[in-house]
Amino acid sequence: MLVEKGEGYGIITLNRPKALNALNLQVLTDVTAAAAQLDADPEVSAIIITGADRAFAAGADIKEMQSLDFATAYKADWFAGWTRLSEVRVPIIAAVNGFALGGGCELAMMCDILVASTKAKFGQPEINLGVLPGMGGSQRLTRAIGKAKAMDLCLTGRMIGAEEAERSGLVARVVEHEQLLDEAKEIAATIASKSQIASAMVKEAIDVAFETTLEQGLRYERRLFHASLATNDQSEGMAAFVEKREPGFTHT
Ligand code: HXC
Repeated sequence: MLVEKGEGYGIITLNRPKALNALNLQVLTDVTAAAAQLDADPEVSAIIITGADRAFAAGADIKEMQSLDFATAYKADWFAGWTRLSEVRVPIIAAVNGFALGGGCELAMMCDILVASTKAKFGQPEINLGVLPGMGGSQRLTRAIGKAKAMDLCLTGRMIGAEEAERSGLVARVVEHEQLLDEAKEIAATIASKSQIASAMVKEAIDVAFETTLEQGLRYERRLFHASLATNDQSEGMAAFVEKREPGFTHT
């Protein structure tokens, strides 16, 4: 795994190209620790996760899982460590450069904005291995693209390309392969130019939409909106609009 920092954001690159960036325990530990560290860095307002070479991630490491038995997996609550990524409060952008299969697709879906290159391929092929998704595929995919498509992908194990993924609502944008990282960096830099508090609140509010009733979600959003009125960034943002100038957010 590689970690770099840009202007206001961090980039985590999965880097096991010989195994198509398959997600083993080491990758889990490294990625979740790096994301937590970037999240705690006041200079970081967004994180990009991408993959080296021709894969984003071709799934959980099948060679590591091959001899995994029920008792070991259950006692260690195998894959639960990935929930640490969902605790990150700055927005995470998945820049999907190639295969995002099984755990790779699930990792992308743990991110907040999915941008795909024209070479991206998504799928939940666990059915071909005699198992089922174990890092959220049956849940997040269904919420993202609905029952019909989720059943189709999880039961047949077929892969879809970037265009079908965008049409299905799985990804926000598709760009030419060579433009992928620039596009992700531009999104990250745009987010970094806003108030960190407001963007964390946006992420929190949208995530709540998947956890609650509409009435409770609307109240939650309203309360967060009320709270945003207590920030210096709200005073600055609105003053800047009225004074016809760019805001200088201080993240306070
Ligand atoms: C371990 C993997 C891997 C994986 C690829 N490799 N995917 N190793 N775990 N998930 C390795 C291959 O073994 C091979 O290593 C090298 O990467 C290159 O892969 P090839 O298969 O030679 O490449 P290609 O022919 O281009 O095919 C690409 C592919 C194929 C279509 C992506 O690799 C593939 O089908 N991979 C498995 C995808 C998958 O089933 N993912 C879901 C995993 S289960 P060598 O050493 O031979 O060169 C999961 C969730 C589990 O994610 C949760 C429930 C338990």
